[in-house]
Parts: sequence; C-alpha cells; structure tokens
Amino acid sequence: MELNKYDIELIKEDFRRLFGTKPLLVRSPGRINIIGEHTDYNEGFVLPAAIDKAAYVAVAKREDNNIHLYSRSFREEYACSLMALFPRKTWTDYVLGVVDQLLIKGYGVGGFNLVLDGDIIIGAGLSSSAAVECSVVYALNTLFELGLSKMEMVKLAQAAEHSFAGVKCGIMDQFASMFGKKGYAIQLDCRSLEYNYIPLHMEGISVLLLNSNVSHSLASSEYNTRREQCEQGVSWIKKFIPEIVSLRDVTLNMLERYVLPKDALIYKRCRYVVEENVRLQSACDDLKQGDIQSLGKKMFLTHNGLSKEYEVSCREIDWLVDYVRNNPEVLGARMMGGGFGGCSINLVKEKAIDPLVEHISKQYKEATGLTLDAYVVQIENGTENISFKSGKQ
Ligand code: GLA
Repeated sequence: MELNKYDIELIKEDFRRLFGTKPLLVRSPGRINIIGEHTDYNEGFVLPAAIDKAAYVAVAKREDNNIHLYSRSFREEYACSLMALFPRKTWTDYVLGVVDQLLIKGYGVGGFNLVLDGDIIIGAGLSSSAAVECSVVYALNTLFELGLSKMEMVKLAQAAEHSFAGVKCGIMDQFASMFGKKGYAIQLDCRSLEYNYIPLHMEGISVLLLNSNVSHSLASSEYNTRREQCEQGVSWIKKFIPEIVSLRDVTLNMLERYVLPKDALIYKRCRYVVEENVRLQSACDDLKQGDIQSLGKKMFLTHNGLSKEYEVSCREIDWLVDYVRNNPEVLGARMMGGGFGGCSINLVKEKAIDPLVEHISKQYKEATGLTLDAYVVQIENGTENISFKSGKQ
C-alpha cells in the first residue's frame, strides 16, 4: 500500500502568503491504541503509539494582542482578541482552548498568527483533536518561552479538550501524541503517569486501520455517560470500602457484591473496565515476548467487551471485526478509541494486506453502503519542532 507523505512546504507557503513572515513549525501525531480502551479515565493502563499521520502548525508572534488563525483543511480564517476566547463548536476550539488554558494558568502568551494543517483524518478515532492541541501548546511554549515540561503540556492539552470541546477525555491521546517514539508502543499507567516504551517488533505483521467512515454524533455525550457510570460504580463500592479511589482498585468480587445488586447495567460497564485492565497487563507481556498471536486474541476479547458490555461500538465496526475474526492472516482486531464509529485496528500479516483490503472493501460497501478506507500505519515520534526541515515528512 502506498504511503503518502505530508508536504510541509504547503503550510509554509500559506503562512508566507497570509502573514508575510517565516514561522516556527511543529508536527504532532495522531495515535493508535493496541489495547486498553476506556481504561485511562479509570486510572488504568493503556498501550498507545504515535503514528505517521499528524497535525502541523506554523506560528509566529504578532505585535498586538490578537490571534489570527487559518485552517488549510477547512479553508477558513478566524481572528479574535486574546481577551475574547470562547468555544465555537468547530476546529478553532482545539487551538483557542489551549490558549485559554495557558492564560488561566497565568502563562504570558501574546498575540500570534497560526496556520493549521495535517494529514490526520478527522473524526476517525485517531485523535486529531489531541494532535492539534499538542501541536499548539508545544508551538506556543517554544514561541513564548513558557518553560512548560512535556507532561505539563499534556495535562494542559487535556484540560483544553475538557473545557472547550466538552469531552471529559482521559490522558491517553494527548500523552501518546506528545511522548510517542518511533518504533515503540508506550505502556502508560494512567494513575501514576509512569510509562515505559515497548518495542513494537512484529516480524512480518503490520498495523492496518480500517476506517468505517461512520462518525456518530453520539460519541461525546455517550463518552461522558460512560465515565459517569464508572464513577457511579466506584461510589457504591466506596461506601463499604472507603479506600477505593477508582476502578483501578476494584476486583470482580467487589463488583458482584456491591454493584450488581444495585444496577445490572453499571455492573456490566464496570466489569468490562476491570477485565480490560487485567487483559492489558498480560497483553504487554505478550508483546515483550513477541507472542503476537496471543496479543491478537486479547484484542478480539477487548472488542467483544467494548461491543457487548461497554456498548461503545456500532454495527459497521462490529461488521469489520467479525469479517476478519476467523481469518488466519489477521492476528487481532478490534474497535479503537472512544467508539461509535471511526477505525478498527487490525494486526495483519504483511503479504495478506492487499488482497484483504480489496475483498473487505467490496463486501463492506455491499453490506453497509459505505466506502471503506484502509491505512497501514508506521509508528513515529511524538510532538516535535520541524522548523529546520523542508519537503515531504
Ligand atoms: C478517546 C479519549 C481517550 C480514551 C479513549 C478510549 O480517545 O480521548 O482519553 O478514553 O477515547 O480509550
């Protein structure tokens, strides 16, 4: 499969045309997550990696206190004062949300010009929003010499998503975008924020994303509901065992005793999270030992949980996972990210990719009426200053 590279000359040219100066350039990638879904906001574990699809920003200071933005993807300009930042339910939220957080925390940000672009698919579950937030916070940190650490930038980007986009997301996406490392997955403990890089050596196997092209409007409201359901389960257990802080501390036994008698639906939601945390830990061991077969089986189990217990999948993604379930060339597959559409992630033997994509695309169209897009992703570095580079990235 062809790999298209992003040409940073495009964003440079637009910046020069619009603002007439030379910008600072930052790239911040999207992410995949191999296993550990909906565990981050429950203080559990995740196993993401940054990919070769990214958001790009070009920025330079202005003399006044205004912000001038241009999105190449939306072909749209927006200007406002630093004193008048508010959410607009559009792409500007991911830029202005970050500025707003910096100002709230007392960082000295002045006016700036910014052009935003990228080759990361929006709404496909690859965390385009986190990529934009991380690129903006990294660029402003450099431009105004704010002295923020990478971890502080991650937390600030996450807070921007909460306040301007209204999604009470966990920390995984922003973390993976910022801390990604070429060729490695990151095992992150979302409680302590300790992490370690695990080489993603999968001899002859590639990561194939299948984009369902379903973008459900339910995603953010249902996401916040799931989070509340998990918190509800924890609060019931806490009445009996006060030291319990999150689902991270909970066992299946506790759920059966204190949650099941109260509400079967909340029990089901919490059970998925508790099981997923256990599954992730042994999946990391599989990866370290190079046992991709066993890792892949766990991905299918995760999908079952997300679809039947956590109920964040959708008909089209279930179809994609079921289609490859008994294919010996596909070691593992599952829905990825928040859910209700987006991509499935598949571990596929390299030689089988082209014929698989051909067949599944045809059948998917017949079954759903939708076009399927397929991407083989490479694992790349996290957020970085690319001002000194030119040409295709
Ligand atoms: C979205 C959120 C993440 C995480 C995933 C589900 O991508 O932004 O924080 O909760 O969903 O694992």
